[in-house]
Amino acid sequence: MKILAIESSCDETAAAVVENGQRVRSNVIASQIDLHQLTGGVVPEVAARAHMKVVVPVVQKALEEANCKWSDIDALAVAAEPGLVGSLIVGRMTAYSLGFAKKLPVFDVNHIHGHLYSSWLDQDDTPEFPILVLTVSGGHNELLLMRAHGEIERLGATVDDAAGEAFDKTARLLGLGYPGGPAIQKASEGIDLKGLHRFPLPQMDGFDFSFSGLKTSVLYYVQKHPERMSDPTFIAETAASFQAATVKQLIRQLKRAAEAHQAKEVHIVGGVSANLPLREAARQAFPDKILRTPKSIRYCTDNAAMIGAAGYWLNKTRLFVA
Ligand code: KG4
Ligand code: ZN
Repeated sequence: MKILAIESSCDETAAAVVENGQRVRSNVIASQIDLHQLTGGVVPEVAARAHMKVVVPVVQKALEEANCKWSDIDALAVAAEPGLVGSLIVGRMTAYSLGFAKKLPVFDVNHIHGHLYSSWLDQDDTPEFPILVLTVSGGHNELLLMRAHGEIERLGATVDDAAGEAFDKTARLLGLGYPGGPAIQKASEGIDLKGLHRFPLPQMDGFDFSFSGLKTSVLYYVQKHPERMSDPTFIAETAASFQAATVKQLIRQLKRAAEAHQAKEVHIVGGVSANLPLREAARQAFPDKILRTPKSIRYCTDNAAMIGAAGYWLNKTRLFVA
């Protein structure tokens, strides 16, 4: 079954063709990063207008790159919630208009459900339940236990900011630009953590997360050293210390959850799962488990292939809520 999927919930206009919920035939992403770099973050009205301009060519490109005609497509899937409403409307109206014109069913997919299937894309085998999933991006930061398709228990979540949001805000504070995650990772490359300032970790009960204290600690720390803000070494070392503290908290909670719940596999998904120190720390923390992160960095951040995969599995098991 081939699904043409559309994702436009935030600042990426994306379309993809996915076969049988796992094999990515095309994955087109028109990024608005250049546009939002001007303001240091996403302005909803600007994002929605940019989606309107590119959504149709992006869908056409996804079909072309997959070498497909409309007659090859069996269904459409679209990210329906959550997201910026103006941005979501562009994707949904496009999907429903195409569904009506081409007489194809349209599956509404929750964006977070989409991320849960990003670690299934292009894998050689099919993941096995139960799966412990850390979803970590700009908007969400949760620990979930997936027992089956659509059967998901939420073990914990952030009580304030998501880790991606903390990356973005800290990068802005350090003058490293937007999006913050890749900028902080790049600035931290090659920095030896030994002897560097250590930001404290929050004491959390259970499987929740908190990043606002860390963000404030970084703020106080740089306020104490105003004279060093123009020193690239100070910026890089502060970025590296922040990244290390963030990774430590994510892995600590993930390990705790893995000890408390039986899971066959551990997955890390969402924009922050692109972070290389996080991937390395996870490899060291779970030497005996099947650990999966999205196969391509393009499947970590928002994309339509994950929406196509989620649409396939949820529809197949009739758990899909349209
Ligand atoms: O999943 P996503 O594209 O959008 C949301 O649904 O939020 O995630 C975007 C987030 C941003 O906060 C960005 O800074 C972060 O993912 N991110 C990273 C990296 N690449 C993207 N964070 C840390 N390291 C990275 N390499
Ligand atoms: Zn996302």
